[in-house]
Amino acid sequence: MSAALPGPVMVAAGCGGTGRELEPYAGPAGLVGLDLVTRSITLDPRPGGPGPRLAEVPGGLVNAVGLPNPGLGHFLATELPWLVRAGVRVHVSIAGATMGEYAELAGRLSTAPGVAGIEVNVGAPDEAGAGVLEVREPYHAASVVAAVRREFPADRPVLAKLRPDVSRIVEGARTCHEAGATAIVVGNAVPAAFADGRPGGLSGPAVAPIALRCVATVRDALPAVPTIGCGGVRDVASARAYLEAGATAVQVGTALLHDPTTVARLRASLAAHPPEETA
Ligand SMILES: Cc1cc2nc3c(=O)[nH]c(=O)nc-3n(C[C@H](O)[C@H](O)[C@H](O)COP(=O)(O)O)c2cc1C
Repeated sequence: MSAALPGPVMVAAGCGGTGRELEPYAGPAGLVGLDLVTRSITLDPRPGGPGPRLAEVPGGLVNAVGLPNPGLGHFLATELPWLVRAGVRVHVSIAGATMGEYAELAGRLSTAPGVAGIEVNVGAPDEAGAGVLEVREPYHAASVVAAVRREFPADRPVLAKLRPDVSRIVEGARTCHEAGATAIVVGNAVPAAFADGRPGGLSGPAVAPIALRCVATVRDALPAVPTIGCGGVRDVASARAYLEAGATAVQVGTALLHDPTTVARLRASLAAHPPEETA
């Protein structure tokens, strides 16, 4: 059985906190049926990087958060059960230091009750993913996806999250899809710098045109490969741009830090107005 695709509106990894923080802003439908991607979970806890971790810039944010998370054991014991009780469809973002760690994460998540799917983070900007397997080439990304796919049931989605690299995106999407990814999440924060030159990742409206081009390029080159647009989604128009470019869903990240009601509003608007009707 092939895995159903999530969406059309998802919470992007690392931008919905543990999920609980969104509850007061989730709207009348609450969190039921919300497709939430957790922050990237590693086998061992990670404290995250030194501050300052975030800086606002025109059109977005530069972050160097460093993938802080409580580690898989704590996540499974506390955060996951709460999310499942709230009715959230939980897609666990995973990051590992080795291929074996990715496989172990996937194997343990495959038997955890309530895990709807996995998102494989193989596109973190270098500084955010310090200590995480360095994935530079499309075939590296595909090997990680294959290792995860082997451990995770075929009827549940495995998403491969790639950086929005306009020159390599088709190769990355093709190899990851062939390796078993249900859909390709395009993309992630774009490598950038803070004002003092410290490396970080740029997100928010400024990166939307880059990810949008990647989605359209993959649609043209690989029409059978589903994509999920991620980068700068903040309102119906920016979500619709991705859907019209061929994405099956969108993920919302930075906009939630400015307005935590964004996902609830988008879910309601897209449900009320099919894409051809929305303004
Ligand atoms: C504060 C912050 C934390 C993030 N943490 C993660 C993470 O843990 N794993 C991941 O794959 N992406 C992470 N991201 C990247 C987002 O999921 C998203 O791909 C990126 O920010 C682009 O989307 P946006 O413009 O809607 O924010 C993070 C982004 C931000 C701003």
